[in-house]
Amino acid sequence: MKINVISGKLEKHKTDGAAILLFAEEKFGAAVARIDKALGGTVEMLIQSGDFQPKPGAVHLLYPEGRIPAKRLILAGLGTRGDFTLNRLRQAIGKAATSLRAAGARDITVLVNDFGMNFEEVSQALVEGSLLGLYRFLKYKTNEENDRSKDVTMITLLAETAAPVKALQRGAEDGAEIADSTNMVRDMVNFPAADMTPTIIAAKAREIAQQFGFTVQVLDRVKMQKLGMGALLGVASGSVQPPKFVILEYRKGGKKPFIALVGKTITFDSGGISIKPSENMDKMKDDMSGGAAVLGAIRAAAALKLPLNVVGLLPATENMPSGSAYRPGDVLRTMSGQTIEIINTDAEGRLILSDALAYACRYKPAVIVDIATLTGACRIALGQEATGMVGTDEKLKQMIRNAGEKTGERVWEMPLWEGYYDQIKSDIADMKNAGSRDGGLITAAALLSKFVQKYPWVHLDIAATAWTEKDRPYTPKGATGIGMRLLTQFLRDYGKKN
Ligand code: BES
Ligand code: MN
Ligand code: ZN
Repeated sequence: MKINVISGKLEKHKTDGAAILLFAEEKFGAAVARIDKALGGTVEMLIQSGDFQPKPGAVHLLYPEGRIPAKRLILAGLGTRGDFTLNRLRQAIGKAATSLRAAGARDITVLVNDFGMNFEEVSQALVEGSLLGLYRFLKYKTNEENDRSKDVTMITLLAETAAPVKALQRGAEDGAEIADSTNMVRDMVNFPAADMTPTIIAAKAREIAQQFGFTVQVLDRVKMQKLGMGALLGVASGSVQPPKFVILEYRKGGKKPFIALVGKTITFDSGGISIKPSENMDKMKDDMSGGAAVLGAIRAAAALKLPLNVVGLLPATENMPSGSAYRPGDVLRTMSGQTIEIINTDAEGRLILSDALAYACRYKPAVIVDIATLTGACRIALGQEATGMVGTDEKLKQMIRNAGEKTGERVWEMPLWEGYYDQIKSDIADMKNAGSRDGGLITAAALLSKFVQKYPWVHLDIAATAWTEKDRPYTPKGATGIGMRLLTQFLRDYGKKN
């Protein structure tokens, strides 16, 4: 995809499809007024008649028929200025770009109005919204080439005056890196589990590290045994796929302490011996979404050259039933030395994370953030509108919350009170891996909290947000890539403050 930032006038600009984003209940700015004049007042008429209301989600396609050089023109609503956010902007341009593609446009031009916000952030959001919205997963379509011929190949941000072009350019570059990283995460998650094994993920990490300039170390089963990662190995014991513990290190922060990101990387979660029902089991290929988001965030951190030291940890394995699988009733000895009684082999995410979190502590990190498709209970509690958050540090939680608001990947905090720990008390081991169904999101987090020592820590449960069954304005159905933009925004903010 080619991305241009230019200054000029839309009435003079040749393009397959132009997009104009409009606020509701507002007079046109100078640029839109001029374009509408060239169109003979069509836009004004559409709005006056109520045929097009510039509400969020609303789009209207029209054909200028030579009155301006653009072949197609799409109007997209932003809602009122009072309710305006960058996420609204992403949604409007996402909808506009996909509608223009459906109509046949291959190059798209966006009129950059004064949206009353920082131009750099505006252009980042415009590029993100378009690239994220236009994403398609076609790897298993045998007519992929044919489908790709319908892809949009060029996006132009067209600004009225020369003044903000530099800022727009910077924002567009960042937006493209962030969208590319998100779409990489989506690809990884959309791939079937058979083609996204721990081994393949490790190879993918190596490839990305080479390309973007960070280091990767991959621990195999023997190294895990030496480290005493009994929980990760226990989960892996049922699968013929060898587990991998992938360590990503991005070091551009001098002597600063590391930020540790830990991502659940279960390449397929059958439930193991406590096998899941078959309905929707196909979706359990998304159980590596946390790990993919961590790889994506470190890719983005490197692409954006953030002045930080970041370590990413991906405990990667399948969770399968077999004669060699771990069983309910088994006791696993974790790397930290603590033991866990297995009540349910389907509560495997917290097990592999317990070893990864213990490993993270070896870095004496400034903060630890883990991200995981951890519990069905998270969906019951919050639906698909928010990622669940539990943590031990107010400042860190606030930073994550802010990053969520900014990126539209919103999080909502759940409490981690003492009483919840009662549910994971075991009669024979230090703890057990599953309690009752009550507060399942929290009791899972309670177990994790036993492995982060004193380090400031936040846990993000993306079980409900990593996948969408329906198309959203800039998130086509399938893997959402959630967490990647959230973590990247957090890293950017952290880099500015520390
Ligand atoms: N990967 C699942 C959580 C999940 C469920 C993600 C549905 C996406 C959609 C996790 O490993 C799991 O199976 N959790 C169990 C825990 C229970 C056995 C304590 C759950 O939530 O049912
Ligand atoms: Mn499970
Ligand atoms: Zn799982």
